[in-house]
Amino acid sequence: MADMCVEQFAQEKLFHFQDIRTREQLSVKIPQVLDPSYGMYVWPCSPVLAQYIWFHRSKVKNKSVLELGAGTALPGLVAALCGAADVTLSDNSEFSNCLENCAKSRDANGAKNVHIVGITWGQFSPSLLQLKQVDIVLASDCFYDTKDFEDVIVTMSFLMERNPEAEIWCTYQERSADRSIEHLLQRWQLECTHIPLGTFEADSPDIGQSGLPGNHTIHMLILKKTKPG
Ligand SMILES: C[S@@+](CC[C@H](N)C(=O)[O-])C[C@H]1O[C@@H](n2cnc3c(N)ncnc32)[C@H](O)[C@@H]1O
Repeated sequence: MADMCVEQFAQEKLFHFQDIRTREQLSVKIPQVLDPSYGMYVWPCSPVLAQYIWFHRSKVKNKSVLELGAGTALPGLVAALCGAADVTLSDNSEFSNCLENCAKSRDANGAKNVHIVGITWGQFSPSLLQLKQVDIVLASDCFYDTKDFEDVIVTMSFLMERNPEAEIWCTYQERSADRSIEHLLQRWQLECTHIPLGTFEADSPDIGQSGLPGNHTIHMLILKKTKPG
């Protein structure tokens, strides 16, 4: 049997966010490699989360932000370029190619105060334990494999214990109607608000002029720690 040959195509994707009211603009370059690894190219959830951050950019100003499963890290970069105090981009500590991709995205945009660490969901590694308290956790398309759902939520829950006022901004792509994270969120005392895409101009066929659409299969969620009582 012939070996399967997977070619890798390196490209740079440009995102251009605009605010027609204030005429503010932001361009972000994301190097990506069309490669079988999940974290090497931009997934459709990512421009939706990036658009949410751009639309609500005043909320990230001077905040500490952490991105989980960042891959090419568009949302984390948008937060950094919109004035976050510091941004930590993370991906599985065993996926050095994804962590290198995070560094390429940071360097392509000259973003300051952006750090890169390996954080594997569900593991209480020194890199997780040594993290300082964060205000906003970003997670774009981290719920794609049901076997990892609880590990992602365990890591989120740990971060919320550190800072109970923190928020998790998360995009989720519905791939099958019988998958749900609701019961796990309840188990780990996180409450979830669904944010309609139209409320932050992500119901577009071309978010950030990227050619990537926001559509009904992508959900924008805000998770918070459930208050006692
Ligand atoms: C579907 S991709 C999404 C990538 C990026 N956030 C986006 O939306 O374009 C899932 C990401 O999670 C990372 N990942 C997979 N398993 C992981 C784990 N156990 N711990 C941490 N990150 C993981 C992958 O390397 C990849 O970057």
